Amino acid sequence: MAAAVNISQVHKDYGTLHALRGVDFDIPKGCFFGLLGPNGAGKSTLINIMAGLVRATQGTVQIQGYDVRQQWRQARHSLGIVPQELAFDPFFTVSEILRLQSGYFGHGRENQPWIEELLHTLNLDDKANTNLRELSGGMKRRVLIAQALVHKPPVVVLDEPTAGVDVELRKALWKFTNDLHQKGHTIVLTTHYIEEAESLCEQIAILNQGQLVALDSKTALLARRPYRLLHLTLTNPDTPIPSALQDKVQSFADGELILRLHRDEDKIGAILESLRTAHIQFSDLRTQEPSLEDVFISLTGKAHDPR
Ligand SMILES: Nc1ncnc2c1ncn2[C@@H]1O[C@H](COP(=O)(O)OP(=O)(O)O)[C@@H](O)[C@H]1O
Ligand SMILES: [Mg+2]
Repeated sequence: MAAAVNISQVHKDYGTLHALRGVDFDIPKGCFFGLLGPNGAGKSTLINIMAGLVRATQGTVQIQGYDVRQQWRQARHSLGIVPQELAFDPFFTVSEILRLQSGYFGHGRENQPWIEELLHTLNLDDKANTNLRELSGGMKRRVLIAQALVHKPPVVVLDEPTAGVDVELRKALWKFTNDLHQKGHTIVLTTHYIEEAESLCEQIAILNQGQLVALDSKTALLARRPYRLLHLTLTNPDTPIPSALQDKVQSFADGELILRLHRDEDKIGAILESLRTAHIQFSDLRTQEPSLEDVFISLTGKAHDPR
């Protein structure tokens, strides 16, 4: 069975700049897939190649088995793209732009109930006759999403849909994409919000400087981080920390000692024993697993800061 998206040895050069260098992976059908990476990693370039908006210098991309160049029409029909940039023709109203888009994909009146359902789900009912130029950024974002879904594509790609939107809309979009996923759509999400990828995505690819640096299930990626944290609430915080533990101290403030433990090398039993020997007592202890953010930083060397 063909993958939802097949990316094969894709290179993209802009002059001397190598935006993508041999990117190669598949996105399985029905997957909620996260494409992460710092600014300039090549995420939007890859998505624009999928959409047929940018031509790869080398390599091929297929959507649901259709080559984006040889079979561009079928490939384009299989894909709904929510672009990163808010670009619109400002002369149309919301429902006009959706009908136009629907017509572009060969649909007629029979698609009107779906357009209305989209307007309703995205809370745009009362904006249907509003001109696009009069909408706020958040509302425009919703229209872009409706536009991407107007032809019911099996694969939906969202390029940083929640960058710069308020918390309420972000939550609404999370729910919306999750519902699409439940209905069987393949979802590809690029995001600057690690917690978004962490809560939504099943599989994650990390791009860095045009190359794939990780491709794994979320669970496996999280397990890759060799460290975990041990939090201890000390009852006698003035007692000196033994020198053997000094290099494991992540932070120590207000009686809360946080030790960074190597998953294999540092045994919790031995750590607690050396605390006891040093007469350090504690009233509470808990361990904390690494976040996707930690994994991201260790793989790209960059913090994944939200804008
Ligand atoms: N049209 C273009 N012309 C020249 N360089 C570009 C163009 N589009 C993107 N780039 C460059 O390609 C690299 C990847 O950009 P992009 O795909 O937008 O990254 P991301 O979406 O991961 O932030 C960046 O260095 C960017 O400046
Ligand atoms: Mg981008």
